[in-house]
Amino acid sequence: MRILAFESSHDDSSISAYENGKILKEFSMTQTETHKKWGGTVPEIASRLHLNNLSILLENLKKEYELDSFDRIAYTYKPGLIGSLHMGQIMANTLGKILDKPVYKINHMHGHILAAGFNNELEFPSIALIVSGGHTQIWYLKNYNELKIIGQTKDDAVGEVYDKIARKLNIGFPGGPAIDKLFQNYKGEFINFDLLDDKTYNFSFSGIKTKIINYHHKLQQNNENINIQKIAASYQKSVVKILIQKTKRAIIEYKPKSIILGGGVSANSYLRKEFLKLHKNYKIPDLKYTTDNASMIAIACDLQFPEKN
Ligand code: KG4
Ligand code: ZN
Repeated sequence: MRILAFESSHDDSSISAYENGKILKEFSMTQTETHKKWGGTVPEIASRLHLNNLSILLENLKKEYELDSFDRIAYTYKPGLIGSLHMGQIMANTLGKILDKPVYKINHMHGHILAAGFNNELEFPSIALIVSGGHTQIWYLKNYNELKIIGQTKDDAVGEVYDKIARKLNIGFPGGPAIDKLFQNYKGEFINFDLLDDKTYNFSFSGIKTKIINYHHKLQQNNENINIQKIAASYQKSVVKILIQKTKRAIIEYKPKSIILGGGVSANSYLRKEFLKLHKNYKIPDLKYTTDNASMIAIACDLQFPEKN
């Protein structure tokens, strides 16, 4: 079964041609460079760019695949930026009508989670930690269709905090890769920015954000030397610690047969290293599938709506 999938929930425009568990080809364009100068995604610009980029990507796909060769069309319907989501939704539904093919609405978070199903049979129940610029969630999966959130952030998403801290420290956008690089090369002692663990599966990152901003201000005011690398590395150490601590607790309570990591922040080197220590059956996405992409929407469509024989 061939699926043509669309992803446009945030700042990545992506189309995937997928067939029976395999990605035939993915066509993607990111908007990071455009949003960089604003220090974050500007929703109005994002949706306008999706309109333009998705059309280019579809033209490219058409050069290699007959649109009529697809059996289904899938698209991300939520969560995300409304204007951006609409672009994928309109394109998918219009194609569905023209080609007379069924159109499937896929939850973006289910896409991040079920991307773990590429070349893998997932074992249930499972626990998934999904960390991105928009979300920080722990999920319990009973099967491909029964997924529930057991904990999430009460304020900022972890990727968002990475981006804000990086902006404060003036080390670039997106903040995640910049901070991760500093962490990897850091050999010194860490500042303790540890977060309080409230023993639930929820997260709150506003405390650590304020702690770091205050720490930075104080040094600035006193004209003291500011060790950017030390602050960035210490932030990463503390934030990964709480993500791992809460996932570990969920593993003890829910006794899953597998654990899944996903979302943009799952590209983080330290998080990946610590996550795989948690369970013998861990699923960590290839780096290219950590960020938003349409292939994860295609596989979620395949796994959640299997073909009836
Ligand atoms: O899932 P994603 O590609 O997009 C949305 O959230 O929509 O996630 C992007 C986030 C950004 O906040 C970025 O800073 C973060 O993922 N990120 C990382 C790393 N690479 C990307 N965070 C920590 N470490 C990384 N290596
Ligand atoms: Zn995402």
